[in-house]
This record gives sequence, C-alpha cells and structure tokens, in this order.
Amino acid sequence: MNQTITFHLNGEAVRMEIEPHLTLLQLLRDKLELTVTKEGCGMGECGACTVLLDGKSVNSCIFPAMEVDGKSVITIEGLTNAQGKLHPIQKAFIEYGAIQCGFCTPGMVLSAKALLDENPKPTEDEIRHGIAGNLCRCTGYLQIVQANKAASGQ
Ligand code: FES
Ligand code: FES
Repeated sequence: MNQTITFHLNGEAVRMEIEPHLTLLQLLRDKLELTVTKEGCGMGECGACTVLLDGKSVNSCIFPAMEVDGKSVITIEGLTNAQGKLHPIQKAFIEYGAIQCGFCTPGMVLSAKALLDENPKPTEDEIRHGIAGNLCRCTGYLQIVQANKAASGQ
C-alpha cells in the first residue's frame, strides 16, 4: 500500500504518495525526473548516487525513500542558484579539470559540499577521507582534491 511522505527537495516542499519499497534514487530519477543523480553500482559502493540528506551525504541507491519523510534532500540540481549560476564547488571542478565522463561528478561535488560545510578548511588527508566513498575511473583523484582545496579558498 502506498504511503504519503512530505519533505523538502532542493528547497521546495514536496508531498507525494510512494510505494514503500522505493529507494531514494528511484524516487528522484523515476518519479521526480531528477536524472542528474546517477546509478553506478546500485549497491552502496561507488558514490555515483550521492545526495545530501539534512546536509550529510548518503548513497541514495540503498537509502529507503520512506526515510526522507520530514527531512531535506539536496540533489546536484539544487546546487545551482535560481539564476542558473554554478556553485563555487562546481566552478572549481571545471577549473581544475576534475570532470571527464561526469558519471561520478554529481556525487563527488555533493560529497565535497558536505565536507566543506562541516569543515571549511580541510587538509588534503581530510579531503581524501571526505571523498573516499566516491569512485572515479577517469581523472585520478589529484584534480578532484585540488578542486576541493580551491573551493575552500586554499
Ligand atoms: S550507485 Fe549508489 S553507491 Fe553506487
Ligand atoms: S569523471 Fe568520474 S568516473 Fe569519469
């Protein structure tokens, strides 16, 4: 039987009925058509599906959609401002060449956001730890670490 949930998605209040077995990733991509959040492994191991839940990064592929009830979800679509301007973290990823295929990038950027919100001046080790759950097969991690540093003003 469907259940009603209410939550904030990228700042907007949402109320909807969903099947209780849905994952948060299925809710975002299949029901709400927010398809920039990607599915990689589907098993909580690659971080491609990362979104922010009350400011913390979660793997949406293994997170029950029912559990967002009463909470705030931010996807990569929510990082750009109302005028469509990129977030400084997104700009830094572009500037430092931290993006190639873009499959991992939405999750990588959101993990960077969670890290920098909690720790505005992370060390390199802290950055590497902060993005450890996000796998990238293309760039190597040096540019990603540099982009995180630049976004933190270091
Ligand atoms: S798709 Fe969710 S962790 Fe890989
Ligand atoms: S740019 Fe990250 S997997 Fe390709």
